[in-house]
Amino acid sequence: MGVTPLISMRNIVKRFPGVVANDQVNLDLYAGQIHAILGENGSGKSTLMSILAGLYRPTEGTIEIQGTEKRINSPSDALACGIGMVHQHFRLIESFTVAENIALSKTGGSFLLDEDEITVEIKALGEKYGLTVDPDAYVWQLSVGEKQRVEILRMLYNDSRVLILDEPTAVLTPQETRELFSNLRNMADNGCAVVFISHKLNEVEALADRITVLRNGRVTGSIGREEINQSKLIEMMIGRDIITAYEKSDPPGDEPVLVIENISALNDMNTLGLDRISFNVRAGEIYGIAGVSGNGQRELAEVIAGLRHTLSGSIRFYGEEIAGMSPKDIITRGVSYVPEDRLGMGLVPRLSSCDNVILKEYGGAKFSQGSFLKRDAAIAETNRIVKEFDVRMGSIHQPVKMMSGGNIQKLLLGREIASQPRLMVVLYPVRGLDIGAIESVHKLLLQLKDKNTAIILVSEELEEIAKLADRVGVIFSGRILGEFPVSRMDTEKIGALMAGIVEDGGAK
Ligand SMILES: Nc1ncnc2c1ncn2[C@@H]1O[C@H](COP(=O)(O)OP(=O)(O)OP(=O)(O)O)[C@@H](O)[C@H]1O
Ligand SMILES: [Mg+2]
Repeated sequence: MGVTPLISMRNIVKRFPGVVANDQVNLDLYAGQIHAILGENGSGKSTLMSILAGLYRPTEGTIEIQGTEKRINSPSDALACGIGMVHQHFRLIESFTVAENIALSKTGGSFLLDEDEITVEIKALGEKYGLTVDPDAYVWQLSVGEKQRVEILRMLYNDSRVLILDEPTAVLTPQETRELFSNLRNMADNGCAVVFISHKLNEVEALADRITVLRNGRVTGSIGREEINQSKLIEMMIGRDIITAYEKSDPPGDEPVLVIENISALNDMNTLGLDRISFNVRAGEIYGIAGVSGNGQRELAEVIAGLRHTLSGSIRFYGEEIAGMSPKDIITRGVSYVPEDRLGMGLVPRLSSCDNVILKEYGGAKFSQGSFLKRDAAIAETNRIVKEFDVRMGSIHQPVKMMSGGNIQKLLLGREIASQPRLMVVLYPVRGLDIGAIESVHKLLLQLKDKNTAIILVSEELEEIAKLADRVGVIFSGRILGEFPVSRMDTEKIGALMAGIVEDGGAK
């Protein structure tokens, strides 16, 4: 290509204590192109892009912008150079409104801008790009998908020419993903360079003009869209084949572990989030909840985990009513909950892996003796989880927020599985995981099933439900619209139910 790249990263090295996250990486980004970055969890994708976005300084190497070397020492330097990034983990202030969060990014901390004007501008941007979100809503009220939209809006609001999105689709619904893709194409056609990190090969194939693959911090290949081929990409990423279908056993008996009857509950906006939900799960059964996220999945999980009040109905766990019990009492009975928001609800970001493992058992006999902590036992247990679940990190004493997204998920799941739950409620367990890690998580869930744990698997991917679940219930607008054995699963029909379209053809 005879054109000067918009961005050239040259021989970038980034070392963290104990890890070389990027090792002599070269990357050229061109205006008008969508460039995908692929690689296993921990291969250095986020680090490389955080360097471009001014969050980290490279240990070695240089960055050129349109052929001129530039030092990017801070996110505001990057922004001034027209580089914006939507991070894998959100960087929004929960107690502020959407408009305030967006305004803050531009003014660098002052509220002197006219709020009404900002609100109008956000609404206009939102409409233009199909990213609707209420500017006056507080961030804590938003779903993960909506928070993502705010992050994207924030970048657009700042007129960035280099748009970096770190796994943006991991939290979007299929429809939002399609919309995002056409918008990204639009932005590229308007002269932007778009960088897109994803683990989903289908998405990358559909969208990318060029793909660069990282492995252990190094570039293993960079190919144009005409050369894209899935097995070649997998080979470049992990250097081996992966399994596409699993063996799964039938649940051993018909006795339900969990019986949910007519549960209703409010959502965070104080409207009806769950509307008379009923279903049951047996020991050794995986019950899939299919649906577009934001249709009551989180509320349902929280109600079971005791984190949200019910308005009516009953939840019986091994015959005992648990609706109204404290989360702690529910955990003690053997219920484990793996939330979608890993770094908010699941793990404490600034604590180490080891402390996060202790946290779950806090007050239990496992790691404490009287008021003393059995530190060695905790370290041993953490090391065991790290080894068994192949969690990769610098050290178990580092804050978990320094781990790669996929490894954070493996740690959280590992900790929950290690507690040998009798019921596990798991939301979007493979979101953000690379294909190798997805395979290991799926195998872990099947192992748990074989140990007779009842599992509620909330997923947006029908393929995942088809592979793992025994039965599937489709959730829409807080209601279960249909329930099927997976062996007789009709994808078209389930897809229609996910969109709220029931038998008579009308929308609910
Ligand atoms: N701030 C940090 N301090 C120490 N180590 C870090 C830090 N950030 C990342 N690392 C380490 O650098 C390596 C690369 O991490 P990075 O987040 O770039 O991976 P990734 O490719 O984005 O993975 P994922 O797909 O899981 O998001 C990992 O081993 C990670 O633990
Ligand atoms: Mg990452």
